[in-house]
Amino acid sequence: MSKLIKLLSLFIFLNEIYGEEVSKPHIIFILFDDLGWNDVSFLGSYDIRTPNIDTLASDGIVLNQYYTDAFGTPSRSALLTGKYPMRLGVQGISISASEDLGIPESERLLPSYLRELDYETYLIGKWNVGKSRQHYLPIHRGFNTFYGFLDGSIDYFTHDLIEKWNGATAFGLNLYNNTQPVEDQSGHVTEIFTDKAIEIIRNHDRTVPLYLQLSHAAPHTGGGLVNLQTPADTIAANSHIAHSARRTYAGMVTGLDKSVGSIVAALSENEMLQSTIIVIVSDNGALTTGALQNFGSNFPLRGVKGTPWEGAIRSPALIWSPILPTKIMNEVFHVTDWLPTLVHAAGGAVKKPIDGVNQWLSLKDGKKSKRKEIVLAVDNLSGWVAFRDGDLKIILGKVDEETSGYYGEELQALRKDPPSYEDMLLDCKVSNVLRDKLGVSIEPESITAKRKELNLSGLHVLQSADICIPTKEKGCLFNISADPLEAHDLWNKLPDIVHYLTLRVRVLWSEMKPRCEPKRDPRADPSLRNYTWAPWIENDEISIEPENKTYPAFPLHLSQKELQYIFKLNVGTFSEKLCKLIKNMGDSFTKTLSSLFNY
Ligand SMILES: *[C@@H]1O[C@H](CO)[C@@H](O)[C@H](O)[C@H]1NC(C)=O
Ligand SMILES: *[C@@H]1O[C@H](CO)[C@@H](O)[C@H](O)[C@H]1NC(C)=O
Ligand SMILES: *[C@@H]1O[C@H](CO)[C@@H](O)[C@H](O)[C@H]1NC(C)=O
Ligand SMILES: *[C@@H]1O[C@H](CO)[C@@H](O)[C@H](O)[C@H]1NC(C)=O
Ligand SMILES: *[C@@H]1O[C@H](CO)[C@@H](O)[C@H](O)[C@H]1NC(C)=O
Ligand SMILES: *[C@@H]1O[C@H](CO)[C@@H](O)[C@H](O)[C@H]1NC(C)=O
Repeated sequence: MSKLIKLLSLFIFLNEIYGEEVSKPHIIFILFDDLGWNDVSFLGSYDIRTPNIDTLASDGIVLNQYYTDAFGTPSRSALLTGKYPMRLGVQGISISASEDLGIPESERLLPSYLRELDYETYLIGKWNVGKSRQHYLPIHRGFNTFYGFLDGSIDYFTHDLIEKWNGATAFGLNLYNNTQPVEDQSGHVTEIFTDKAIEIIRNHDRTVPLYLQLSHAAPHTGGGLVNLQTPADTIAANSHIAHSARRTYAGMVTGLDKSVGSIVAALSENEMLQSTIIVIVSDNGALTTGALQNFGSNFPLRGVKGTPWEGAIRSPALIWSPILPTKIMNEVFHVTDWLPTLVHAAGGAVKKPIDGVNQWLSLKDGKKSKRKEIVLAVDNLSGWVAFRDGDLKIILGKVDEETSGYYGEELQALRKDPPSYEDMLLDCKVSNVLRDKLGVSIEPESITAKRKELNLSGLHVLQSADICIPTKEKGCLFNISADPLEAHDLWNKLPDIVHYLTLRVRVLWSEMKPRCEPKRDPRADPSLRNYTWAPWIENDEISIEPENKTYPAFPLHLSQKELQYIFKLNVGTFSEKLCKLIKNMGDSFTKTLSSLFNY
């Protein structure tokens, strides 16, 4: 008996000592919408100041080659499933509010994995991975609760969405508490979402692990045909910026930075910060040009949101935690990697095959990353694909010239000196909390040094006449490690590599589930439901997509001669890799090859 009591008290003793350490980390995942590479100051932006975010970046890990998708829906789907969106039919352009599409119900999402590991899971903010049917909604996909909007954008003050499509205009409220429309909430959604997140943190029992995903609407354009909306004081805080639309955009980013400060302070007040992981990323780059431009800047990276260029898919990213080191990670990290990485951090493991790679040990202990290649983005509707293998990136298919240049530099003109960066760093909420609660010494010099190291603006930008634009006949090949600005096309210099990568991409292409042509369903019109957007289709209704869905043609034109050449070349130089590839090939492509070579 006494032995048992001894054992029991030993257990309680050990539990008290180690309890704190072995408990699962809280995870706060903060997702921005269409934030540009050059719109946070830790990457070198000199016009927009983000002291709270920069302080976390400086004390955490900056993911210097973090890839998302080119559009919001595929990026969010990749985060939630750990799979390439092209496997799920949600690649390419984001889901519209009147479109019947969502992440297939058969997929298991990140919050569901975490819930199995005893987490409480909350989504605040944007969803946009399906709402035409009830079973697509966040509370049926693993989130305990949801407060936010279901589609691509929201008017920051009225909380409505106006969708203009094919000559029709549909409009209605787009803010929900779980499945209930919220009509009595006033204010700007960045502040509303921040307040709701703080409420969850304050009321949270810190002995239970928390997954809180705060998916901000900003700095995406507003959903009410008024593009940029932010409280006046955030615009005033950026009075040094000469271009007034850029100044308003900067105000939206200032709102996000303040939000990060308030979240960190709330975590600290509830004594949770010590055991928290904070991730801050954007879903894709800024839309600097075009009708829905938000005046964000990806400069000096090429392109805008929705293109295969680095400006669309290489996103500002950081992960911070007292249990992680301080560093810059220069290896590639893909948005699909979060699922296996965070599930590992939570003490679990993903058993079924996914595209994401567990990067926890690379983050924590600097182990070599297992990620070698990434399907960066596939847009089968306009017909292009971007793929990365090691240092190299290949783009195949037709890409619009108008969105393939370098944009946004002129937006960053200053009309007077900005406030002192050092003072902002020392005064901001995150600095104060890290210093007072965790004893972190905040040295503006080391933050500035890291900022200098990450600044790409010194690199040479080419004139548009000299840059490679992919066509159906010829793609582009870059060594991104040496040439992040995609200025030096290697297509003609490295034909063997071009052929090998083309074949590899061709194989992956054959594994695609085609995205259906975006189609407006008039039954979605909110005027049928008291001007409120809501699911409008029964779960079991047969999908309206046409049955005779054609398989998308490969975006690079390959003649029979070229196929034969690729094949011969690969047998010679990559035979082992090739055999493995052929084994994994999709049906139609294998048939083509066999018929060509009697294979
Ligand atoms: C959502 O509604 C529930 C039930 O009415 C309520 O308890 C909760 O406070 C609401 N949540 C938010 C974030 O307003
Ligand atoms: C994309 O896929 C759809 C559906 O399979 C197909 O109809 C369309 O032609 C494809 N577009 C291109 C450019 O390949
Ligand atoms: C980034 O580099 C450019 C070019 O060298 C320089 O003009 C700019 O001031 C740098 N930005 C920061 C924040 O140091
Ligand atoms: C890419 O460039 C880097 C830096 O110049 C070089 O070390 C590497 O070998 C290049 N990679 C390829 C595949 O050419
Ligand atoms: C619209 O609102 C009216 C009055 O509040 C209510 O009676 C009706 O059921 C609502 N209709 C729908 C489709 O929700
Ligand atoms: C499906 O194929 C049939 C026969 O080729 C054609 O008549 C019809 O228009 C197609 N339907 C769609 C929605 O593409």
